[in-house]
Amino acid sequence: MSKSLRIIAALAAVGVVGGLAFAFVPVQTTAPVAQLPDDWKPAEGQGKYVMYASDCLACHTADGGEPFAGGRAIASPMGTIWATNITPDPETGIGNWTLDQFRAALYDGIRADGAHLYPAMPYENYRKLTEEDVRALYDYFMHEVPAVQNKVEETKLSFPFNMRFGIRAWNWLALTHDAGFTPADGKTEAEQRGQYLVEGPAHCAACHSPRDMLMAQDGVSVADANFLTGGVVDGWNAPALRGPDSAPQKWDVAEMAAYLATGRNIHSTANGEMGLVVEHSLQHLTDQDNLAIAAFLKGADGAPVEMPENFATLETRALPALDADDAGKETEKMLTEAAPDMALGPRLYLDNCAACHFVSGKGAPEIFPELAANHIVTGSEVSPLISVILNGAEVPSTAKRPMHLVMQGYADRMNDEEVAELSSFLRKAWGNDASAVTAAEVAAVRAKQPH
Ligand code: HEC
Ligand code: HEC
Ligand code: HEC
Repeated sequence: MSKSLRIIAALAAVGVVGGLAFAFVPVQTTAPVAQLPDDWKPAEGQGKYVMYASDCLACHTADGGEPFAGGRAIASPMGTIWATNITPDPETGIGNWTLDQFRAALYDGIRADGAHLYPAMPYENYRKLTEEDVRALYDYFMHEVPAVQNKVEETKLSFPFNMRFGIRAWNWLALTHDAGFTPADGKTEAEQRGQYLVEGPAHCAACHSPRDMLMAQDGVSVADANFLTGGVVDGWNAPALRGPDSAPQKWDVAEMAAYLATGRNIHSTANGEMGLVVEHSLQHLTDQDNLAIAAFLKGADGAPVEMPENFATLETRALPALDADDAGKETEKMLTEAAPDMALGPRLYLDNCAACHFVSGKGAPEIFPELAANHIVTGSEVSPLISVILNGAEVPSTAKRPMHLVMQGYADRMNDEEVAELSSFLRKAWGNDASAVTAAEVAAVRAKQPH
């Protein structure tokens, strides 16, 4: 054997031994972050409330399936991961799990049998849950959720992702933050409550933080520079929630709380994944908690926080047509004059869209979203805008705003070229400044639709 071959053989042997040691060293789980008295009991409804804030129901329930019985397919860059049955059924659910095993799933992503969970389960964020909330959740799942016998499909990713112990190395590199919650100094009680909800249970960073090279959340705490600076989920921009152009800086606290609680405010509406977050999770929170989240986001980088008594809801019957602001005046004028040589994009807008979104691009408060400075219109990902135009969109009905807002799609009325021209116009109108959209990009979105 030549020397270099021998070295390679030696390295391979070390690798195999190392790999085996790595696979067979017992897993370490994180201890509780606080010792509660043995007879500690959650307040009435606490566990269910933490469940809503954490959105467990959305991932762990299949379409048309029993609550928490699993079977929902979660798309990941590595393949399909099946959410498990977390009802207290002893055979197919988590009925036999101890509190410590349950905590390990939330804090460390470790299953009762010691195997690692894929980070599609957002344990990077649930790691911040207080011990009170962990115990309240456990109590809720063991005593209030009905047991459902349902064996879900086993997750089978291709090599090497099927080696669950490999996630241990990922955890070593990615899961470096301490368990439990550390409030930022010098903040009000409401802002600290908001920080807890955002960083922990509500796992906003799972979508709104960028991902690093390991696909881990790049920023899980407000002290991290990239925390909530914007991510991409399923081809949608989850816009930055920090920085001068971000919604929390442009909207006041009451408007932000209204968006979170009802999926709409005078500026925008929640679509796609965010519509689901509002529908399944945020609309069930108290007004105080939605205001707390809004206050935390506003003050995260030191902006002054004016805390309103209540969140902004407008009388939905009033349809004031707002004037464009300075950046939008020119577009408004051009649309109003409707010169005969008007380009195709603005003409399509005038003919099809202006009745609801108006020549000012301002829409009507809480009903027709503003298209000026709208992050769906200007996002780096263009497929959501194209999809809204082709397929329409809807805002979920929420308890506080039952009206179900629906926009019709234009797939049958416009060809790819027209949708591209219209989109390109929108991305430059009223002071918007984003790149043009091509007919090929429209064709790609159209091809993905069922019809
Ligand atoms: C974003 C989607 C998502 C959310 C939200 C979510 N989970 Fe999960 N969870 C998953 C997926 C996917 C798995 C399976 C991962 C795997 O197989 O490695 C999982 C696995 C688990 C497991 C392991 C069960 C087993 O039998 O292996 C438990 C326990 C669990 N989740 C509890 C919860 C609780 C409690 C909440 C709310 C606090 C929650 N999950 C919220 C996606 C989610
Ligand atoms: C499952 C992924 C996901 C989670 C979790 C999530 N969001 Fe979003 N969010 C999105 C997407 C995608 C959009 C863009 C859709 C839209 O604008 O209608 C969005 C839009 C928003 C917007 C509008 C921003 C703008 O500039 O228009 C706000 C505000 C927001 N989210 C706040 C939050 C907060 C606060 C949390 C946690 C409580 C959260 N989101 C959790 C995916 C998510
Ligand atoms: C009959 C009224 C109506 C017409 C006409 C209309 N829309 Fe809408 N549009 C709505 C409503 C209502 C919503 C809110 C639904 C939602 O966002 O899910 C909406 C949402 C949107 C959004 C998403 C904005 C956000 O913040 O979520 C975009 C982009 C949009 N419309 C563009 C257009 C374009 C371009 C046209 C013309 C081709 C058009 N709309 C025509 C009523 C209308």
